[in-house]
Amino acid sequence: MKTTKKILVLLVAIALFASIFTMAGCDALSGKTKIGVAMPTKSLQRWNQDGSNMEAKLKEAGYDVDLQYANDDPALQITQIEGMITNGCKVLVIASIDGSALGPVLATAKDKKIKVIAYDRLLMNTDACDYYATFDNYMVGTIQGQYIETTLGLASAGDKVYNLEMFAGSPDDNNARFFFQGAYDVLKPYIDAGTLNIVSGMTAFEDIAIPGWKTESAQAKMDDRLSAFYADGTKLDVVLSPNDSLALGIANSLTAAGFEVGVDFPIITGQDCDKANMKNVLAGKQSMSIFKDTRDLADQVVKMVKAIVEGKEVEVNDTKTYDNGVMIVPSFLCVPKYADKNNYKELLIDSGYYTEADLA
Ligand code: BGC
Repeated sequence: MKTTKKILVLLVAIALFASIFTMAGCDALSGKTKIGVAMPTKSLQRWNQDGSNMEAKLKEAGYDVDLQYANDDPALQITQIEGMITNGCKVLVIASIDGSALGPVLATAKDKKIKVIAYDRLLMNTDACDYYATFDNYMVGTIQGQYIETTLGLASAGDKVYNLEMFAGSPDDNNARFFFQGAYDVLKPYIDAGTLNIVSGMTAFEDIAIPGWKTESAQAKMDDRLSAFYADGTKLDVVLSPNDSLALGIANSLTAAGFEVGVDFPIITGQDCDKANMKNVLAGKQSMSIFKDTRDLADQVVKMVKAIVEGKEVEVNDTKTYDNGVMIVPSFLCVPKYADKNNYKELLIDSGYYTEADLA
């Protein structure tokens, strides 16, 4: 054979070899199995942590990782997942923006025998969601409700009445209803008994939900409620906030309206233990947050990925709760905890999640 012909044959062979590996979910050059990780946004601290934990732990386990953030844009997330499929990812780990928007692209993945793990947020109305790993979302709400119950001493409040306002998360996020229901189930008996009084009267999920979990929208909604119902000096004792991005907006609104820590600043709940919020907890502008150790969730998901790739049984601990409209998705639920100014050191600093300087 002439040299040019030999080179051509060699090139064709390499290309063929590479495409076979890609089809098998392996990166042609490294020979490693490739995993796609789709995260919703870089704009909230927790998803950055989730993304980098997942990437580091998957690499440590010997996989190639295609990590993408979708800027809270469902259409962009679809394009990114399409790319992961084309690039030969063997397993997709997806924290969705709109849990119901991914049906067609997930169907493509299923056709290609790619397994899908819903990360933190359930993928809705699809039969192409193999597993779900999250924190116990109902328990998150329960802990928030119980925090309010114990801090105000509701069980022994007698004739005392406390004024409450409630918020809920994004309606396109299946978690949001679980958080709200968990908290509401604890608070409802006290609302019914009149111990908790919702001055605005707003209790329906649709009325109190904040699309996109946006801080600014929560702030604007709190501004509205303060001027409509509290401008006359009516006391506000407590605000149920499902997470930290909303709690930040609510605290900003209260501060702008002249509420003062140690004087009339209400109890505010939260979730995620974001740095900005833990600083607010230390400053008295938020009372608690839910600690969901993203390292635990990443560990669990990496275990799931390994089991899938190795054809072993995937560990789950819940096969009843998460109905996505088409099927009940086998789930692994991690355990959330609450953090406040009394236990944050042990929980967040001693565990190496943050340094003191992070919260200074
Ligand atoms: C997550 C929360 C987060 C919220 C906003 C939810 O799906 O479970 O931890 O605060 O989304 O990003």
